[in-house]
Amino acid sequence: MTVAIKIAPSILSADFSCLGNEVKAIDAAGCDYVHIDVMDGHFVPNLTFGPPIIKDIRPVTKKVFDVHLMINPAQPHLHAYAEAGADIITVHVEADAHLDRSLQMIKELGKKAGVSLNPSTPETAIEHVLDKVDLILVMSVNPGFGGQSFIPSQVEKIRRIRSMIGDRPIDLEVDGGINVDTIKSVTEAGANVIVAGSAVFKGDDYAATIGALRGAA
Ligand code: DX5
Ligand code: ZN
Repeated sequence: MTVAIKIAPSILSADFSCLGNEVKAIDAAGCDYVHIDVMDGHFVPNLTFGPPIIKDIRPVTKKVFDVHLMINPAQPHLHAYAEAGADIITVHVEADAHLDRSLQMIKELGKKAGVSLNPSTPETAIEHVLDKVDLILVMSVNPGFGGQSFIPSQVEKIRRIRSMIGDRPIDLEVDGGINVDTIKSVTEAGANVIVAGSAVFKGDDYAATIGALRGAA
């Protein structure tokens, strides 16, 4: 079965001095999702931004806002990300103690629910929530920073999760170290949403890079 690949540039690598224009540019360049990395300096060793900035960039595009929460706890803040304009809210399985409840809360907020796994977390951690998720995000770097090297061991995990998903309508997303050289290994294993931060934003021609990623997928 051929699955359409969605490209989700991570604005972590954008120029924050003109973030609205950067989002407009990836929209015009043909991205599918806008991947938004929220970091708290606690769950991950880096700090980015929260709901007010997401709210400010919401009006500049109609593209799906794919909000990746690298924060612990996330539960007390889910409503704020929903109100700020997230379409998909993804929480980490390693964060709050009660993953099932977090996913239920995201659904009750009317948003798509995602769950993310760090590279060292086995896929079995999500086997009992498969019927509650719209998206599974496999981290192919240790979260915290853009521009890190892809961890090859995650390809096998992606393959196993694709098999676990079966015919459920769940997106399988991969995040970290994806470029034209690494993308094929994850799409072949079953990933259908591809996050790319530095690969997109380090170049001047975002459309060319997004096209090259689709071509290499
Ligand atoms: C890492 C973030 C990623 C990051 C990816 O913690 O979750 O979304 O921006 O950046 P690249 O594509 O440069 O590895
Ligand atoms: Zn991310």
